[in-house]
Amino acid sequence: MIHPEYLETVFQASPPSGGWPRNFHIITAYNPGIILGAELNAKADEELRKELNLAGSRCFRITGCSPDLTHREEGWGVAGLTDEEALTMGRKHGQNAIFSVTDGILSVIGCLSGERIRIEAWEKRILPDEESKNLEKIESSDQGIDFEKLWRIVTSQFPLDEHSDHGPDHWKRVEQNGLMLAASSGADAVVVRLFALFHDSRRENEFSDPDHGRRGAAYAHELRGTYFQITDEQFELLEFACTWHTETTHNANPTIGTCWDADRLDLGRVGIIPDAKYMNTVLGRQLANKISSERMP
Ligand SMILES: [Fe+2]
Repeated sequence: MIHPEYLETVFQASPPSGGWPRNFHIITAYNPGIILGAELNAKADEELRKELNLAGSRCFRITGCSPDLTHREEGWGVAGLTDEEALTMGRKHGQNAIFSVTDGILSVIGCLSGERIRIEAWEKRILPDEESKNLEKIESSDQGIDFEKLWRIVTSQFPLDEHSDHGPDHWKRVEQNGLMLAASSGADAVVVRLFALFHDSRRENEFSDPDHGRRGAAYAHELRGTYFQITDEQFELLEFACTWHTETTHNANPTIGTCWDADRLDLGRVGIIPDAKYMNTVLGRQLANKISSERMP
């Protein structure tokens, strides 16, 4: 059976040179039946890209998103495959379904059943260019900071388990939440990414550790200048957001508000339903309401 979410999917995509091919498929390797972390998804995506290239297929980046953009899966548009070849690729990567565009009409095809459901005109499902570009810009904003290296340094000193409630798995989700919120809140994406990394980095236990935000900010101060460069204004925002993230609820600055909302949207991991009244951004409030209405009996 095709998961109903497929029928709602919208796409972040720019036409390849020469425009959209008349016929193509959209295949992702993300989340093969289970939700994978960013690193494993990136690895699976790269494998799929190599396989498509080896097959001599022309491919171009297309990202499938839920209508509210809270869930995103990168994938590839690929021209020149038959339905069966594309389905084989989808099955190989553990997918429930793939998309096909035939004469400009988007359909979804079940990988196992072969069932095909017509959705609507492909062009109607592409996100407006401006929104798409905004997301792309935010995701790639790094101000020259080697975030991979910085993550290695900060995670290597973290005294608790990497999968602990306040560890790197949580930081990654805060980063993803923060970048998604930043697309509409106008937050400084670099500060949001640094907040995700540092805010819990100096926790000493999983329970009451009232000074951990302040210590996280001090640690960021220690590494600034050697491992990353940001302006004084950016550092002030980062320092404030880290220091007060558990003791203060609201702040009118969009960057600080986005950092705090990104953290609070991940409260589900410790069994707490995020509450819209503690959110600062419009999208944060919408998402908190959505999460609580889905979890209410
Ligand atoms: Fe946190």
